[in-house]
Amino acid sequence: MVKLAIDDKVVEAEGGSTILDAANKAGIHIPTLCYHESLSPIGSCRVCTVEVITDGTSSLTTACNYLVGEGLKVRTNSEKVVEARRLAVELLLAQRPHSGRILELAKKLGIEEPSFTLKQRECILCELCVRACHEIVGVDAVTFVAKGIDRDIDEAAVVHSLEKCIGCDSCAYICPTEAITVEDVRATRIISTPSGKMEFRLKQCKVCGKYWAPEKQLDYIVEKWHLEPEIFDTCPDCRD
Ligand code: SF4
Ligand code: FES
Repeated sequence: MVKLAIDDKVVEAEGGSTILDAANKAGIHIPTLCYHESLSPIGSCRVCTVEVITDGTSSLTTACNYLVGEGLKVRTNSEKVVEARRLAVELLLAQRPHSGRILELAKKLGIEEPSFTLKQRECILCELCVRACHEIVGVDAVTFVAKGIDRDIDEAAVVHSLEKCIGCDSCAYICPTEAITVEDVRATRIISTPSGKMEFRLKQCKVCGKYWAPEKQLDYIVEKWHLEPEIFDTCPDCRD
């Protein structure tokens, strides 16, 4: 265990944990956007910016992926922090002004509208969908692609592979900006992504007739867990 001070409160945290983990444990709120507790952090949105003081030197960093250390001093709400956080949220708001999650963050920081304009984009490149597909689903159907000769971040995108995607909708579930949406229309699941639409055939329950899950997702589960395919002939509601 290491001891650190967050907003002058002495906190004990496990070595290897992050400032965000330690703050959460101590009941100190730090806002986040690209972070999810079940996924490895990448520190891309900078909404969780905090100030750290080590050896008398202060710097700004992202709490979700900065590891705690003995004697570390952290400020979660200093003038510098609020200014940096406001800039991070203004950048997001300028790109995606109608996202509920971003509007909520902006409201908490007293931002009514960004003080600059940027090209609007559905996807804010948080890579939550990429990480969820890789780390939880294990399919790697979503990749982050920085385009152009200079691998320009402004031209970057997340790209879904229809060949690999099993239609499970984890990416839509985790996306904080509704850039990925899912609609089930009778026997078809339609997933709309920043890189285009994909369609999946849904399996029909032999008992109630309901279309209940993508066939490709069920095939994937059967293969991965060495199950008998017949177990998915019926939907969960009609199973014993
Ligand atoms: S599609 Fe959504 S989850 Fe994926 S990177 Fe873009 S904003 Fe993040
Ligand atoms: S939540 Fe930490 S950088 Fe996005």
